[in-house]
Amino acid sequence: MKVGVPTEIKTDEYRVALTPSGVRELVENGHEVLIQAGAGEGSAITDGDYTAQGASILPDADAVFAAAEMIVKVKEPQPEEVGRLEARHTLFTYLHLAPDPELTQGLVDSGATCVAYETVEDPRGRLPLLAPMSEVAGKIATQAGAFMLEKPLGGRGILLGGVPGVAAGKVMVIGGGVVGMNAAFIAVGMEAEVYVYDRNIDRLRELDLYFAGRASTCYASTLEIEQRLPDMDLVIGAVLVHGAKAPYVIRRDQLGLMKKNAVLVDVSIDQGGCFETSRPTTHTDPTFEVDGITHYCVANMPGAVPVTSTYALTNATLPYVLHVADAGVAGAARENPGLARGVNVVGGKVTYEPVAEATGLPYTPLFEVLEEAAAA
Ligand SMILES: NC(=O)c1ccc[n+]([C@@H]2O[C@H](COP(=O)([O-])OP(=O)(O)OC[C@H]3O[C@@H](n4cnc5c(N)ncnc54)[C@H](O)[C@@H]3O)[C@@H](O)[C@H]2O)c1
Repeated sequence: MKVGVPTEIKTDEYRVALTPSGVRELVENGHEVLIQAGAGEGSAITDGDYTAQGASILPDADAVFAAAEMIVKVKEPQPEEVGRLEARHTLFTYLHLAPDPELTQGLVDSGATCVAYETVEDPRGRLPLLAPMSEVAGKIATQAGAFMLEKPLGGRGILLGGVPGVAAGKVMVIGGGVVGMNAAFIAVGMEAEVYVYDRNIDRLRELDLYFAGRASTCYASTLEIEQRLPDMDLVIGAVLVHGAKAPYVIRRDQLGLMKKNAVLVDVSIDQGGCFETSRPTTHTDPTFEVDGITHYCVANMPGAVPVTSTYALTNATLPYVLHVADAGVAGAARENPGLARGVNVVGGKVTYEPVAEATGLPYTPLFEVLEEAAAA
């Protein structure tokens, strides 16, 4: 298969979807790899690093889309990229379609086969292609939150870890999955007082054992959250209902309960945001204020540490990229039901139910579409 890697064009996005190791594995498996000139620069990978492993360099995105059958990317396609997609393409990238009906419609209209990293599942129902970026984003969430609490940045002027004789700051993490656990891990390391909220009791049990008393675990009912909010300096939102738009865990009227200049970090912003007052921001202009509360809502947090993130992401995606290149999407989906969960749009139909529900488009089961295509 011809596998194409365009340069990422989302604002402040420096990751790239394939490393030289990935090129080597694909080429050794008989595939052709086409990289846009300069695609790896933001992650400190040169064109020469790619060609040394057997890739060809093409001058621009138009050339990559024209020549490739599978397009491997990092972030959801931007409008000009959607315009380049055709029915013959397979797109493999983060899509986050549930909160974005316009992008979903664009992909439906393109006729392309679109596979979302974030809805691929492993045999235990976990999200192996979201997890590495969630680990990065969780760690950045606490770092960024701590920074935004500094007075010159509009924060309360609090040092999260405190000092001898002055109490530590208080951190609430809502959603104790991969992001939440990593955020809490860094907050504990900074010696803050940490509370992790979730609605999954088994998950709270795991976290309770993991933190061994260094963070408190709490059930995420509206009342429990509301009662602790007035004490918090930093609140990190990290909830996820697989594939669906994020539920609101803090509403606008609850901001009034918080301390002035406290900080909210909404990591779930890529799924629409879990605070009612959130809207997506960029690394260039990461925060805004609502009712005296600083909001940090960067939708591509791992993009700020591209060297770490590119390798973490591609370590996880490469086996799936190889499988799709070897067997095609239909073959790979039949062989791996977890990969089939990643297929969101095929031939003008939405094949992932939570996205169909959230966007109001009709849902068609994936294997129905694949059987129709095979029979045609
Ligand atoms: N902004 C970014 O750059 C960035 C980067 C990576 C991940 N993310 C996003 O972060 C979010 C979390 O990802 P993850 O990998 O940690 O997911 P995860 O599935 O590992 O964890 C989500 C947790 O949320 C819990 N949850 C669900 N509904 C809840 C509710 N109402 N109240 C409390 N807890 C609830 C679940 O039980 C689960 O433990 C996702 O939306 C993901 O896309 C954003």
